Amino acid sequence: MSLTSHQTLVFLWVFLLATVSFLATPSASAINSFVFGGCSQQKYLPGSPYESKVNSLLTSLVNSAMFTTYNNFTIPGSSSQDTVSGLFQCRGDLSNNDCAQCVARSVSQLGNLCLNSCGGALQLEGCFIKYDNTTFLGVEDKTVVIKKCGQSIGFDSDVLTRRDAVLGYLGTGDGTYRPYRVSGSGNVQGVAQCVGDLSPSECQDCLSEAIAQLKSGCGPSAWGDMFLAKCYARYSQGGYQSNGGHDDHDDDDNDDELEKTLAILIGVIAGVALLVVFLSYFRKYLCEEEKCGK
Ligand SMILES: *[C@@H]1O[C@H](CO)[C@@H](O)[C@H](O)[C@H]1NC(C)=O
Ligand SMILES: *[C@@H]1O[C@H](CO)[C@@H](O)[C@H](O)[C@H]1NC(C)=O
Repeated sequence: MSLTSHQTLVFLWVFLLATVSFLATPSASAINSFVFGGCSQQKYLPGSPYESKVNSLLTSLVNSAMFTTYNNFTIPGSSSQDTVSGLFQCRGDLSNNDCAQCVARSVSQLGNLCLNSCGGALQLEGCFIKYDNTTFLGVEDKTVVIKKCGQSIGFDSDVLTRRDAVLGYLGTGDGTYRPYRVSGSGNVQGVAQCVGDLSPSECQDCLSEAIAQLKSGCGPSAWGDMFLAKCYARYSQGGYQSNGGHDDHDDDDNDDELEKTLAILIGVIAGVALLVVFLSYFRKYLCEEEKCGK
């Protein structure tokens, strides 16, 4: 080898890090897709104490998202107007890694979108974040934030029956706390999620409302999204994760598969490289002991 052992080690380390970060983002594009965002009208002065509160709040969200899928923080001020609260909610199926990435992405996007705003909220496919100086923590809010419906499927009663079964299941309250719900029937799939500051009964109430709105608002559509301020319900034919009814479902899936295959391949290569380096060290060590080869 023409590289010194130190260079080889550094090279290998960088290679392994790159592999790990690659493995950690199998479907980042789907999780980080923008759904909606909004900012409060009031602005704070740049450099004000309020700004540093917002910054430390957003930092807390990012740090906390490595350990849990929901959390809230309040940075107290001298008055209630001066007190900032914030929360994040990741979709219930995300790993800690994906959740942390999604929240970090949301925070940086929200920083641009709501520059110097007293409050703001952002929903990506995989996570929701919100901060404000008004009282919203623990308050149920069924305001429709975004409603999107796919093209009508006319009188395909088969699909509609399945859709209704999926939504029916999503809306079923069995008394237990289920803030994240998935359901499927045939090729129709549904997902529902509450923000974690709602009580079990508020969550159930919010989801019932979202589902009722979805049925009445979207009629016989191939897919539908209903985001209320504290919960959402969605359904689609052929997978909800890269939803929106975009025509790129299959492309996304193929990309994911390709990325996974590549990641595994690179992992194997890195493993073999590590073994080679280890063996060459071992040999060198033996050689130094026994003064061989000279
Ligand atoms: C906080 O909220 C109030 C309205 O409730 C607003 O007037 C005020 O400017 C906001 N921002 C700050 C930094 O206090
Ligand atoms: C906010 O977080 C605290 C501490 O983690 C927790 O005890 C409280 O229940 C949370 N409040 C809401 C509304 O989620």
